[in-house]
Amino acid sequence: MGQTVILCAADDVAEGEIKQAPLPDGSNVALYRVEGAIYATADMCTHGEASLSLEGLLNGKTVECTFHFGTFDVTTGEPTGMPCEIPLKTYPVTIVDGKIQIEV
Ligand code: FES
Repeated sequence: MGQTVILCAADDVAEGEIKQAPLPDGSNVALYRVEGAIYATADMCTHGEASLSLEGLLNGKTVECTFHFGTFDVTTGEPTGMPCEIPLKTYPVTIVDGKIQIEV
């Protein structure tokens, strides 16, 4: 059974933007809003030391890491463009009382 972590208000994540939120282990997640739904992935690109919330660009459900222009599908974590080959960790999201909760 995972741990439930309450992050920010769902309204704080705007369509097309990427928001960073901290986890208890010291790492971060990146939060995205795609067509109204919130998705959460690890914030660190799997190709290098790039924060997707700081360096990434969200276009639809695709986040592009501007370090080497690799891409991921934020709804699944799957890499969709080279040089990224390792999936991003994803977290199941629920919205409770307007706040984003994930299982870690
Ligand atoms: S660090 Fe993200 S594509 Fe290289």
